[in-house]
Amino acid sequence: MFKVENVSLLYDLDKEDKTHALTHINLEIKEGQFYGILGPSGSGKSSLLYLLSGIQKPTSGKVYYKGAVLSEMEEEALAAIRLKEFGFVFQKHFLIPYMDVLHNTLVPLNSKKPDDVEKAKNLLERLGLERELKKKPYELSGGQCQRVAVARALINEPKVLFADEITASLDHKAASSVMELLEEIKAQTTILFVTHDETKIAMADEMIYLREGQLGGDKDED
Ligand SMILES: Nc1ncnc2c1ncn2[C@@H]1O[C@H](COP(=O)(O)OP(=O)(O)OP(=O)(O)O)[C@@H](O)[C@H]1O
Ligand SMILES: [Mg+2]
Repeated sequence: MFKVENVSLLYDLDKEDKTHALTHINLEIKEGQFYGILGPSGSGKSSLLYLLSGIQKPTSGKVYYKGAVLSEMEEEALAAIRLKEFGFVFQKHFLIPYMDVLHNTLVPLNSKKPDDVEKAKNLLERLGLERELKKKPYELSGGQCQRVAVARALINEPKVLFADEITASLDHKAASSVMELLEEIKAQTTILFVTHDETKIAMADEMIYLREGQLGGDKDED
């Protein structure tokens, strides 16, 4: 589904001291698999998700999605893929501050159809947020915001879910409700799940270990 070909990503290109976030990565992501992505802080996990989702363009090398090079696509075509096929839960939640929980969840659908509203409510209920529907992000805890971001990412039934530390600020019960939802969509969704917590990835089909921007290294060193 994705192919990463000799990709490097450097930040601060205009500065003397550049940051090598990822170096010469080669990787294949197969459709319908659950990938656990592990590695120390700063090893390039979030950067890898940005590259795969087309949010960042590689400094060198190519990222293919279904045979097409993401960085060579027209901005509009890429935006359409992101909206229809990708769901992204960032490490920071990026909810829209003036919208309530229900409407934040509906953002990707841009819809107020009764069916969609029901679907959003159902997802939010599954995530334990049924009493929060009318609250704005500033009235929520960090973990509640995180769960709204999960609902927003899933409302589209994405083909690919990019999940960056989505359970990090959740207690056991809330984290379990998130993992249960992922278990349910696993068969029809390719999931890229970044975490520091290996117990969360018991259901992973494959593991990707990053260390200082390179693949490899094993869990014992993490
Ligand atoms: N916008 C940016 N500008 C400059 N450097 C950046 C930027 N974003 C990330 N970096 C650097 O790139 C490297 C990889 O960062 P990345 O966020 O991908 O790590 P990570 O594995 O997700 O870390 P964490 O577990 O802390 O989230 C780090 O050295 C980081 O400082
Ligand atoms: Mg990160």
